[in-house]
Amino acid sequence: MSLVGRDLVSLLDFEKPELESIFRTADRMQHSTRKCGTQLKNYVLATIFFEPSTRTRLSFETAMHRLGGSVIGFAEPSVSSVAKGETLADTIRMVESYADAVLLRHKIEGSAKFAAEIAEVPILNGGDGSQHHPSQTLTDLYTIRKEFGKIDGCNLMLMGDLQHTRSASSLAYGLAHYKDITLSLVSPENLRMRPEVTDHLNRNGVKFTEGEDSSEYIDEANVIYVTRLQKERFPDSKQAEAFKGSYVLTKQMLARAPKNAIVMHHLPRIEEIPIEVDYSPKARYFQQAANGVPIRMAFLYSSLHRFKYRPVKVIQPDSKDSRKCSNVNCISNQPREPIVSSMKETLSKGERVLQCQYCGRYTKL
Ligand code: NCD
Repeated sequence: MSLVGRDLVSLLDFEKPELESIFRTADRMQHSTRKCGTQLKNYVLATIFFEPSTRTRLSFETAMHRLGGSVIGFAEPSVSSVAKGETLADTIRMVESYADAVLLRHKIEGSAKFAAEIAEVPILNGGDGSQHHPSQTLTDLYTIRKEFGKIDGCNLMLMGDLQHTRSASSLAYGLAHYKDITLSLVSPENLRMRPEVTDHLNRNGVKFTEGEDSSEYIDEANVIYVTRLQKERFPDSKQAEAFKGSYVLTKQMLARAPKNAIVMHHLPRIEEIPIEVDYSPKARYFQQAANGVPIRMAFLYSSLHRFKYRPVKVIQPDSKDSRKCSNVNCISNQPREPIVSSMKETLSKGERVLQCQYCGRYTKL
């Protein structure tokens, strides 16, 4: 399928050949990350951020400028009409009339999928809640591919707050496109990867184990992917305190990893990677962040070049569906958004459950 006019909402929406095509385009873009071309001259990207960001927003902005396009937007919702109570739907409908693509970051899960349903222009998901972060995952997969020449066959250890880190669940969805992946999911018992993600890994034949002790897995890992404790996503910040410092990748622990292993992190890192690890030849997190520019250039180019507006999508409210998502942080539970609940029945560990088509979470039947 063509990438022209495509949204970047989730890794679940892509096929492996499409990912490979983005990576090949990024290889070509790699040579022009320090100069400005004209490939997207006359195109405008709007960046609307309802949560803090350094890398995602700035690397997308850089990517757009390097392709000769321009950027409008806000990085702080208090300066937009959202502070006056404007809905996300109205904000999207306005902003898309000013720009050729909209990059959105929001704490509400499923917000990017919803925006993509109502927008005429491509929606780029800069992270929604603890769910998806597709441009980070493209960056991560591209970094692994550059390092090892391929992604198939890779052994990865993901450690930390796997329940709330969107880069981690998004990476799991991305890895499910590849063959012979070995995945160790290391986290405190209460911060394990959510079941809709592990069910997806199972359905796609990804071998994974879950555990609490990183020393059981580090000897075999080619990629050690460290995550930040996502304090802001806990219902109560005191709960997060209990996990503070629970997963730290020390220099001593890293010494046990295979010689060719690399350390990755979506950044910002707080205390989970001590500064002394920066000097290890295994550290790749800054290189990983730098790879975010060619990969975002590649996606912007692939989606926007030759793109003509797509027809408006009309949401058909289905008043018969009264089943509600149990996730209060889901876009389908925002009373003023013109949205209909979209719950589908599925199986999780042999049990029938409802899955929300916006946030992906399960609700008991
Ligand atoms: C992260 C995010 O916002 O998801 N940063 C990023 O985009 N690289 C991760 C984080 O905040 O921990």
